Formats: sequence, structure tokens, C-alpha cells
Amino acid sequence: MTAVTAGAAQSAFRRFHRLRRTAALRRLVQETRLDPAALVLPVFVHARASAPEPIPSLPGHLRWPVDRVGDIAGQAVAAGIGGVLLFGLPDQKDDGRAAADPLGPVPAALRAIRGSGAEIALIADVCLCEYTTHGHCGVVRGSEVDNDATLPLLAEAAVTYAAAGADIVAPSDMMDGRVRAIRDALDRAGHAETAILSYAAKYASAFYGPFREAAECAPSFGDRSGYQLDPPNVREALVEIEADLAEGADAVMLKPAGPYLDVIAAARARTDVPIAAYQVSGEHAAISAAADRGWLDRRRAVLETLTGIRRAGADIVITYFALEVAEWLRQR
Ligand code: PBG
Repeated sequence: MTAVTAGAAQSAFRRFHRLRRTAALRRLVQETRLDPAALVLPVFVHARASAPEPIPSLPGHLRWPVDRVGDIAGQAVAAGIGGVLLFGLPDQKDDGRAAADPLGPVPAALRAIRGSGAEIALIADVCLCEYTTHGHCGVVRGSEVDNDATLPLLAEAAVTYAAAGADIVAPSDMMDGRVRAIRDALDRAGHAETAILSYAAKYASAFYGPFREAAECAPSFGDRSGYQLDPPNVREALVEIEADLAEGADAVMLKPAGPYLDVIAAARARTDVPIAAYQVSGEHAAISAAADRGWLDRRRAVLETLTGIRRAGADIVITYFALEVAEWLRQR
């Protein structure tokens, strides 16, 4: 006896079109949905700005002075966005210690948003690159990044952000052992409840270019391929994820998103913790530039890329399109 296949009774072939006929039907059978609550908006806080200033490499985005950061947080809350991810541009760059300055832009912004009572997850990026004169993500000795000397600085920065009100700290530096160093330091300082979202698999990517302009953190010599993942590797990413979870990460991030959907899918198959994927500045730039030229339909292209990232297995998507996507989803 042959098994009866749904919908096959009258026909020698399957009529897939039946469930695609109308928008209502397509919505009914949609497997992956976008929800503003799963989106995170990156926000740049600038210690030296007196007014919000446009970021040329991230059209539509601003560097926010601390006393105005409540505006953008308020917009994110109103849009139903799940979280904001804060990056800081300090008053002055040094050997990286500025990252842990309690009066620095990120702690000040965290206190301001926390104080406003905004109901949104506050995520603080933890890295030294925005705070070092050389733009590398760690302490530099000679021409190399000193992994172990970097760990206490990262841990101190994470404790400072937790004390200022961060729900989640997100180390993006890619130093080995930083999750354990940060977890230990948080626990010792009484922040056992602060979560760690580790950028477990952050690839040495060409797609960070616009961010480095926005955060003034391009390395002044060499590149980041000595500490960030090599693009051809996927198994290595899975090992990094395993290590970060063993060190105490509560959730993991993969980045960039679009060119690494296979890594997201592989990670999804391996772990049940929340997976975040970061649609990075270069992905934003590519879509924005093409849409500006009329070569892509901005809305369709953005929704398609974000849906693809979610379909690959990401729970949370960090995207510079978060605010406009939330608006489009409301209109649908
Ligand atoms: C490092 C950091 C970078 C990004 C997020 N955190 C830059 C880098 O590694 O060079 C890139 C994000 C983006 O491109 O949108 N603190």
C-alpha cells in the first residue's frame, strides 16, 4: 500500500501553489517570523559630542552624547525592540584602561537609561579597541596583542558596566579565557546575576569597516586575524562556542551574520542556549548603498536578510535596521 500524501489525491503532482495563493495563506504557513522583541539596536555613545552627530559610514545612525542617549533608548522601547547594545567613544584613548572608567560614556549611558526606567535589555559591548590609541582589541606589546595581560582590563570593564546597570555584558575582543575572567570578576564583585553574551565566533571580516569608522577603532597597524576567527573555518567556531559555554557564557553570538549562516545553523544544531547573530555594519552598508541607488528594494532586502538569519537558527538578531524593521512589522 502506498502512503497517502497530503493534497496529492487528485493529481499526479503536488500543487504547492495552493498554500501560496494569498497573503493570508502565506502568513498562515510562514515558518519563520520576525518580531521586534528579538532585535537589538547598536547604539554609539560619544563622550566628546555635545549634540547627536551623524555617522557617515552608518547612514541613519548617530553618535549620541550621554545626556541625549535616553532619546534613542526611548525610541527603541516605543518600537518594541528587545535590547540596545552600547558602544563607547571615550574622551581620550589610552592603553585600554579607559574602557573601565566608571565615568566613561558607556557606564554613564547605562546609568542614564537605567535611571529612566526604560524596559529594555541593556547590553554593553566589552572590548578595548574603542579605547586604545592603536585600535587593537587588547593590550599591545611590541607588535602583538598580549592575550593574558588583556584579561584583567576586560574583566574590570565588565564589572564597571554591570555596576552601572548592564543586564548583559558582551565581550567582543576575542581574547582566549576572557569569559572565565569576566565571570570570576563579576561574581567576586557581587554581580552574579549579570549575564554574559560572548561573541564566541567573531570572524576576521571585511564587513566591520563602517563600524571602525563609527567607533574610531580601526587598528593603526596590522589586522585582527591573529585573534579573530579565520573565515573558512566552521568547526573552529563550534569549538570556540563550546569553550565559551564551559567558561560561563549564558548565550553566544556569531558575527557577521549574512556570510556565516552555515555557522549559525551548525551552532543551532549543537547548543540550546540563546544564539545571537550580528548583522554587522558592512552588511548594513551594502544593502543601504544598493537601495540608495535603486538597485535593491530596501524593505524587502532587509526583511529577507533578517528572516534568513532567524531561519538559520538565530534567536536574537543585532541589526542597524532594528528601528525601521520594527516600524515595518507594525504596518504589516
Ligand atoms: C569590537 C567590535 C567590532 C564590531 C563590534 N565590536 C569591530 C571589530 O572587531 O573590528 C563590529 C560591528 C560592526 O561592524 O557592526 N569592539
